Amino acid sequence: MSKLLKRTHNCGELSAKDAGQEVTLCGWVDRRRDHGGLIFVDLRDREGITQVVFNPEVNKEVHAEAESIRNEYVLAIVGNVSPRPEGTINGHLKTGEIEIVVSSLEILNRAAPLPFAINDNEEISESLRLKYRYLDLRRSEMRDRLLTRSKVVKAVRDFLDGEGVIEVETPYLTKSTPEGARDYLVPSRINVGHFYALPQSPQLFKQILMIAGYEKYYQIAKCFRDEDLRADRQPEFTQIDMEFSFVDSNDVMSLIEGMMCQVFDKVMGKRLEAPFQIIPYHEAMDRYGSDKPDLRFGMELKDISSIAASSDFKVFAETIKNGGEVRGINAKGCSGYSRKDVDLLMEEAKIFGAKGLAWFKITETGIESPIAKFFSPEQLEAIKTKLEGEGGDLLLFVADSRKVVLDSLAHLRNLFGERLGMIDEKKYAFAWITEFPLLEWDDQENRWFAMHHPFTSPVDEDISLFDTDPGKMRTHAYDLVLNGSEIGGGSIRIHKKEIQEKMFRVLGIGEDEAREKFGFFIDALDYGTPPHGGIAIGLDRFMAMITGSKSIRDVIAFPKTQKGVCLMTEAPSTVDKKQLKELGIVKIEQK
Ligand code: AMO
Ligand code: AMP
Repeated sequence: MSKLLKRTHNCGELSAKDAGQEVTLCGWVDRRRDHGGLIFVDLRDREGITQVVFNPEVNKEVHAEAESIRNEYVLAIVGNVSPRPEGTINGHLKTGEIEIVVSSLEILNRAAPLPFAINDNEEISESLRLKYRYLDLRRSEMRDRLLTRSKVVKAVRDFLDGEGVIEVETPYLTKSTPEGARDYLVPSRINVGHFYALPQSPQLFKQILMIAGYEKYYQIAKCFRDEDLRADRQPEFTQIDMEFSFVDSNDVMSLIEGMMCQVFDKVMGKRLEAPFQIIPYHEAMDRYGSDKPDLRFGMELKDISSIAASSDFKVFAETIKNGGEVRGINAKGCSGYSRKDVDLLMEEAKIFGAKGLAWFKITETGIESPIAKFFSPEQLEAIKTKLEGEGGDLLLFVADSRKVVLDSLAHLRNLFGERLGMIDEKKYAFAWITEFPLLEWDDQENRWFAMHHPFTSPVDEDISLFDTDPGKMRTHAYDLVLNGSEIGGGSIRIHKKEIQEKMFRVLGIGEDEAREKFGFFIDALDYGTPPHGGIAIGLDRFMAMITGSKSIRDVIAFPKTQKGVCLMTEAPSTVDKKQLKELGIVKIEQK
């Protein structure tokens, strides 16, 4: 047998019309079945699976050798494409009409016994999957997700190229950029005591590219943020990052809509409705309690503050007196919930700070609730009307500060969305959230924070409020939401130096600090900065949404755990004392 058998086809492409051809295939043993006499192997590569048959009557030696084959061995085989006998055609397999009758076999490599099966749908613990990621990535589910990701990136590049947007890379070893998380720092050996920061995003570089006259920029960029991790957050993640000169919000938003339409069309053969709906931030918060509402179902929050204010229920009336709110949701058809069921819901609401969860059941005999006695019949009727309550419904209320009310009810709304089967899994509900406030007050730190980042432009009419009522200032910022996930965010930027300086001032960033952190950028603003704006789409979150994955870890080849650990490489790890010395970090002792 020749030493290196070169494959003529992949394992996903042969069909009945290839019958009679001699072919060479290479791949992994997905499954081996010994039918006394005949040995069947499902040979797998990235493109699919082809059944190959070892028949002692065709080649006795090869058949004998095939007896030693085990799952995940790597094989090269030569054989004849032959139509499968009547009744053995597999309609689920692309290559199910044929099999390869093997004439020669080369076992390219063996595999140790596996920590988990590659070829069945059994639940595997995520830590095992991450430790043996190379095996996990062989599973068809993971392969399909990564292939889709590659197609999405290609469709994005094709679209942006067609729009005259050019790709420019920006550095990973750089200075801190303020996106609101902690920086990952990299010590400099040559400049002992000095550190690079890994970029939280390419924000300042892309703005500088606009100042440099590049007009339309994009980059598939890695971003690094040291923050508490969740299912939709990784310490390093990928953005489709963009910036454009001489644009307004509508230009950016319609370009993204065009890009999404093209991606859905090219990758999934689906037609998206555009333009996407636009919901101002305050309206989104009022109706859904969230600035990333899942719009695949209704169940909007209803404000009953005015009714609550005049009720005899102290908790409600006092809350309103103290400047809080009372809002509720209608859990349709849930009046049969037991005391325990409602208590469990209350525990969920408490995660977000709620102190209790008031409830009204609408039954045949009227409204049932331990607190109904504190309301007049007219008040009860008004509440029912406000929440569009009907027989069989369960109305749930939280009284608290606006933030607690909205956060806890938004959480319950999402729980019910799933629980009551209200979510149409085939739907892609996109929306733009706009008109964000420029600033957010932080009670603990007693200062303003930028709601997006400090380079977001306020709307022109509000600029005078910098000195009088900064909390009222609105921005030209927009977030893109898909099925309850914030998959992107951007804004029109400040392009005038004096406004940028005002912004730093309101954020409590003094002149010296601004100079030290962003001096290069403030200087650049002085040299002919065009009006500009952009956006970044979180590629991992977008991929999780379109592949129906629960966690972004499932659409990243080599992700980290919630603790920021790569279980395969065991990063982060300790380093040699010698390395620490070279870097001038001598004081840190190793464990
Ligand atoms: P922002 O911080 O909103 O904006 O990030 C843009 C998008 O990136 C995704 N994202 C993340 N995905 C996974 N893990 C994370 N830790 C993570 N953090 C953010 C989200 C988010 O919508 N420079 C600005 C963009 C701009 O203004 O143009 C920025 O980074 O989907
Ligand atoms: P209590 O009078 O504290 O026994 O509460 C009566 C009902 O009101 C219980 O169902 C509590 O869960 C509910 N409740 C108490 N505080 C709040 C609140 N802040 N918001 C909504 N419901 C509350």
